[in-house]
Amino acid sequence: MRIEPVPALVGHLAVPGDKSISHRAVLIGGVCEGETRITGFGRSADTEATIEAMRALDVEIVEEGADVLRVQGVGLGGLRQPDAPIECGNAGTLMRLLTGLLAGQDGRVELVGDESLSARPMERVAEPLRRMGARVETTDGHAPVVVEGAALHAIDYELPVPSAQVKSAVLFAGVQAEGRTTVVEPVPTRDHTERLLERAGARVARRPTSVSLEPASELRLAELEIPGDISSAAPFLAAAAIVPGSSVTVHGVGLNPRRTGLLAVLERMGARIAIYNRRPIGGEPAGDVEVRSSDLVGATVSAEEVPTLIDELPLLAVVASHARGDTVVHGAAELKVKETDRLEAIVEELRRIGGHVRATDDGFRIRGVPARLRGGVVDTRGDHRIALLGAMAGIASREGVELRGADAVDVSFPGFFEVLEQVAPGAVHYPPAT
Ligand code: S3P
Repeated sequence: MRIEPVPALVGHLAVPGDKSISHRAVLIGGVCEGETRITGFGRSADTEATIEAMRALDVEIVEEGADVLRVQGVGLGGLRQPDAPIECGNAGTLMRLLTGLLAGQDGRVELVGDESLSARPMERVAEPLRRMGARVETTDGHAPVVVEGAALHAIDYELPVPSAQVKSAVLFAGVQAEGRTTVVEPVPTRDHTERLLERAGARVARRPTSVSLEPASELRLAELEIPGDISSAAPFLAAAAIVPGSSVTVHGVGLNPRRTGLLAVLERMGARIAIYNRRPIGGEPAGDVEVRSSDLVGATVSAEEVPTLIDELPLLAVVASHARGDTVVHGAAELKVKETDRLEAIVEELRRIGGHVRATDDGFRIRGVPARLRGGVVDTRGDHRIALLGAMAGIASREGVELRGADAVDVSFPGFFEVLEQVAPGAVHYPPAT
């Protein structure tokens, strides 16, 4: 696929429901009492894997519409051991959170994933869950993961890495454990799990750098609306910030402060951002976000800030390449264990299209030039976030980008290129059918 430069991005759009919340809604809905009706579900390859995983565990899920699901909860402890391994595909969130949920359920379940997921670290969830009394086996620290549920006891756990997935796995086990479970997180990460468990009736105490919860005898969600995914809005907002003459508004997008780091950094760089219609959606802050183009300067991103824009760092790298002066990102070593080594991918792919970027021990440094990047070839390496980097770089470039492996967007945002065409007509060129 080719992405051609456009003079400007203009328009209003909406993006699919938040992927992190969509996974959690189906997982929690599956162990609730009664039915959970989910609207604004973010359908993608990753979240489809979660639907199929819960179906394999005997949860009935009715697809009422493209983004409306009815999940018939089986209650805490009601999941049934499947005959075959559960396929998690590319979805790290599914594999890690489900491991936590299964830790307190009867039965022995094997979780498998694709090649990328099978290379990602799984001991980080296995280790605390074992401490709680579950049997969890990894394969040299990776998938396949085998979980054998047990009667669990609460732990106090300090996260060794800033990971919402690890925190969530411990909380999913904690809600089924005896005693009060506490997770301490020196660097705060997204808190969708604790918000949803609280909404479902669990007793949760949320603090700036820790969360505690009591075991629950039952959970109930009933209705849940999911806001748009800020990570999917990000490529449009970031592109609008750097392409002169642009003005883009994304409606109904989640604005949880633990997810809005990209907006905060863009603002420091001099971006013109306005938020309208602030309102809660499904217990999360949300609103309509408008970004208009302006001249940007480089910024420094601290380790404390990184979890609030971890998935948007590839896009920030493109923005930084267009800003005057240096941008430095610290404390982002976690990028090395995402769907690909995203640190390596950012550096290599951005260099290929004319960016001045180098890796540091725990992040990257970019020398920005306030002019369009040259363009060229970007290989997504099968990673959806690198596909968004390539697409965004293409529209903001001089010569366009040949995007190899563009299908990777389906992992989080099927339909991305159609939405891109709405605000950047003429940008997307599909290869001739063979
Ligand atoms: C996610 C947490 C983050 C993020 C991922 C989704 C989640 O991963 O990168 O895309 O839904 O909890 P880590 O918790 O491993 O940092």
